Amino acid sequence: MRIDKFLADNSIGTRKEIKALIKAGRVQVNGINPSDPGMHIDPEKDEVRYDGNVIFYERYHYYMLNKPAGVVSSTREGASSTVIDLLSAEGVKNLSPVGRLDKDTEGLLLITDDGALLHDLISPSKHVEKEYLVITEKPVSDDDIKRLEEGLDIGDDKPTLPAKAYLAEDGLHLIITEGRFHQVKRMLEAVDNSVTYLKRLRMGALTLDSKLQGGEYRKLTKEELCRL
Ligand code: URA
Repeated sequence: MRIDKFLADNSIGTRKEIKALIKAGRVQVNGINPSDPGMHIDPEKDEVRYDGNVIFYERYHYYMLNKPAGVVSSTREGASSTVIDLLSAEGVKNLSPVGRLDKDTEGLLLITDDGALLHDLISPSKHVEKEYLVITEKPVSDDDIKRLEEGLDIGDDKPTLPAKAYLAEDGLHLIITEGRFHQVKRMLEAVDNSVTYLKRLRMGALTLDSKLQGGEYRKLTKEELCRL
């Protein structure tokens, strides 16, 4: 792999910026300053340093974001700010959110440039669990819980798949394995209620880090990535 691609993949800068960094002597390969940005290196074996710090190769990037309300999940939406804008300081290209949350929904959003993982996690056939904390306008009865769990007609061709629901101290927890448009809100409407606050807490084996405030993000740990 070319040294400039290696450094660009690791978000050190654009190819042009990297050329300048190499010229300025800020990059070292096995202790030697390369002169050519096209120099070939072995990312597994060669030791690359930038400003003295070892760079470990990262082909793909994975972030956990606590999405705040008021930000859209799509990658581009007119004048509204998007979840990708929140990560702009990372300088990573081709980032996409794994699944969408409504503008007013908060909580866990995985953001990556790994298209294969993204596809796997949003594929309907994989039935990845999504857990939401739901605050409703009216109280939720045992009968509502039963109906939410059994599957409901929410106006689509088919009723929703069986879900899990329970009441906890913080509100209703609803765990679904599909990702239909406005699904949680429409499920609550189908039991004559409405959602006043919605937050995603978990996606598959990935749980929202409670230390992340709204709008904050961090890289996934190796352990979290393995679990995905
Ligand atoms: N269901 C909804 O209704 N909205 C979301 O943002 C996510 C799930």
